[in-house]
Amino acid sequence: MTEALRIGIAGLGTVGAGVVKILAARGDYLAAACGRPIELVAVSARDKTKDRGIDLGGVRWEDDPMALARADDIDLVAELIGGSEGIARELVEASLKAGKHVVTANKALVAHHGTALARLAEEANVALNYEAAVAGGIPIVKAMREALAGNEIRSIHGILNGTCNYILTEMETTGRDFADVLKDAQELGYAEADPTFDVGGIDAAHKLAILASLAFGTEVDFANVHIEGIEKISATDIAFAREFGFKVKLLAIAEKGDDGIVQRVHPALVPEGTPLAAVSGVYNAVAVDGDRVGHLVLEGRGAGEGPTASAVLSDLVDIARGLVVPPFIVPAAKLKAPAKPLMDAHKSSFYLRLRAVDRAGSMAEITRALAQASVSIERIVQRGEKGRAGGDGSGRLPVVFITHETDEGTMARARAHLAEHEDVAGTPLVIRIEDGELR
Ligand code: NAP
Ligand code: HSE
Repeated sequence: MTEALRIGIAGLGTVGAGVVKILAARGDYLAAACGRPIELVAVSARDKTKDRGIDLGGVRWEDDPMALARADDIDLVAELIGGSEGIARELVEASLKAGKHVVTANKALVAHHGTALARLAEEANVALNYEAAVAGGIPIVKAMREALAGNEIRSIHGILNGTCNYILTEMETTGRDFADVLKDAQELGYAEADPTFDVGGIDAAHKLAILASLAFGTEVDFANVHIEGIEKISATDIAFAREFGFKVKLLAIAEKGDDGIVQRVHPALVPEGTPLAAVSGVYNAVAVDGDRVGHLVLEGRGAGEGPTASAVLSDLVDIARGLVVPPFIVPAAKLKAPAKPLMDAHKSSFYLRLRAVDRAGSMAEITRALAQASVSIERIVQRGEKGRAGGDGSGRLPVVFITHETDEGTMARARAHLAEHEDVAGTPLVIRIEDGELR
């Protein structure tokens, strides 16, 4: 196999430009490693005049990315535009139908349409590879496809969004506020075009739905991911968590339950000293529990030009070497329909933070209300007097409860009850505590 793998790249932003740079810097090595060159034939983006810091001399520019799907001189289209619909979806579908391999970093697309796209790829006997779509530079898709094939996977616990982990880490270590740190993450090229996808937990949910499919052999089931973001987490929560011996992380968890697969993305308190608590900044981590391998944790940079482009290259190299496998390990026709377990059945301890009216007897009232709601309390901390740390001079004081294990439904009812309570200002914040051995 000595003929070049001829590729077209759609999207020359953070990821696309990063891929062009690696192809230029490591072309000879890649040709030797693959037994044939990977040749960049054409590119497409919106603005031809933009300085991208890359040399596109000798590379054809297409104003319309769909031209890449139609071109006779292209074997593989790399879709690095983004979005679950519109041009990205049209391009990927057209390319697969035209018998071209596709590599994408687009988790939104794969999470929403992965199973249908896998069918198209398999019908055309071409690859649909998406290593860069999950956990940036961590080769978790390849690990699931190849290295862990001998295992029945029991659970996955991940930190899957670099932007959120960067924000939470910066809030903790520098005390900067949420909006300010988010701006940084955007400038560093970590955030999605719409950053509410990051901070709202949607991006992590996209990645989790893909991982769950790979882990459990089920169709990609984004619609049934329980999603909560980090928007309501404050510096106060991070400080309280630290006092209790926890870090606050946005976790993405998929686990086999009795009735099906639970997929959930939400902020969580993770005990300090555990692998996921130590993951900081833009780093991601995926902790896998397999029946043969046991516990395994992979960690690496989850976003940004270098790590993401590195993952795209891994896909290109596989295809250049002739490795074409079903996108979700087993053929799409053999993927199982996922069952839909109710999140209500899930149990954990909870961190509950509220603002209590500062008057004699209010704490007794609130703890009584929790007892009436069947929530049992393990610890209580009431922070500060008016004007001191934690007090805001409003006559409302932050109070934090750590509960004993209880179920979601009970906790949701307790929170709703407290939100109506005359001694409580606003709606209390509830964060799950994840203290099992894997975290
Ligand atoms: P980006 O920097 O915003 O780049 C998007 C590129 O797509 C730009 O070059 C843009 O052209 C081009 N584009 C947009 N609409 C287009 C259209 N209609 N026709 C042709 N080109 C169009 O985004 P990115 O960060 O590289 O992300 C690309 C993909 O990778 C997304 O799916 C994202 O979720 C995924 N991803 C990103 C990261 C990361 O860390 N950034 C990590 C993993 C996965 P112009 O430059 O001319 O505007
Ligand atoms: N916006 C994503 C993140 C990019 O911050 O993790 C990597 O997928």
